[in-house]
Amino acid sequence: MESFAGRVAVITGAASGLGRAFANTAASLGMKLVLADVDAEGLERATDELQAGGAEVLSMVVDVRKAAHVEELADAALIRFHCVHLVFNNAGVGAGGLIWENSETDWEWVLGVNLWGVIHGVRVFTPLMLECARRDPAYDGHIVNTASMAGLLNPPAMGAYNVSKHAVVSLTETLYHDLRLVDARVAASVLCPYFVPTDIDRSGRHRPHELQHVGAPTASQQAAQALLSKAVHAGKVSAAELAAITFDAIREGRFYIYSHPQALGSVAERMQAIVQGGPPADPYAATPQMTQMLKAGLKGRG
Ligand SMILES: NC(=O)c1ccc[n+]([C@@H]2O[C@H](COP(=O)([O-])OP(=O)(O)OC[C@H]3O[C@@H](n4cnc5c(N)ncnc54)[C@H](O)[C@@H]3O)[C@@H](O)[C@H]2O)c1
Repeated sequence: MESFAGRVAVITGAASGLGRAFANTAASLGMKLVLADVDAEGLERATDELQAGGAEVLSMVVDVRKAAHVEELADAALIRFHCVHLVFNNAGVGAGGLIWENSETDWEWVLGVNLWGVIHGVRVFTPLMLECARRDPAYDGHIVNTASMAGLLNPPAMGAYNVSKHAVVSLTETLYHDLRLVDARVAASVLCPYFVPTDIDRSGRHRPHELQHVGAPTASQQAAQALLSKAVHAGKVSAAELAAITFDAIREGRFYIYSHPQALGSVAERMQAIVQGGPPADPYAATPQMTQMLKAGLKGRG
């Protein structure tokens, strides 16, 4: 996809962080925006600011875990703009800690947003984009699913998140192959950021009431939270820079999009261990201080 002006971008998780940065970049390129988020106040703020800058914006409070919400979003987008061209299935949340200490509600929440949100986005928007392509010979579209480096590595004490993001990589690779079977004018990419300063370390702020964590956080959950906050806010690539990288990748038709390609050595080591049948490679081999921080946090365990 090479031209953006006048075309329509749908962005989930648009009130904050990467989603907000995608919205800013899309607006600066003259795109019309369909913004969705569970955070009504943040969404209103983003909408007001983008409209004040001249963008045409449709915004909707959407919980991406819910099929009906995503379907309503697509219906509203079609009524207002007739077609969509760029879809960012981006909303995501994190919950850390030793994998056996994640509660049922932790799993349900993380998989609900990170995986089911992308499933619904792909299931609802892909047929609609293929239909746009069928009607318009000049159409091209692109779906970008936000995974993570945690979709290519399995760092300790973030199991539910790792599982959700590996599933998003798998889903998006399959989407890529399936699209090639039917119509190459809708493309797909998977975004795999490493640590980028956003509010991801405060994702509990919009956690639904019925899926609240039960009881006090365990030592491992506290250690994982502290590590996440430290790593995210030490991130050297900003959300705005990553949005620019992502739009370049869309222009160039690149599938895998990275914020920190220098971290891919750990992915290569993981793949080598898989092929050679060894034990899993240490995802933090290049940054042992991360493991040390987790171990120090665990010392308080009973
Ligand atoms: N920031 C990082 O270091 C990093 C690294 C790898 C991957 N990611 C991924 O990037 C994506 C964006 O996260 P971010 O870093 O911008 O965090 P963020 O918390 O700043 O933004 C996430 C947005 O998603 C929204 N959201 C949460 N649950 C939702 C739901 N059920 N329905 C609709 N919206 C919902 C939040 O309200 C928020 O506005 C996520 O998928 C995250 O997993 C982030």
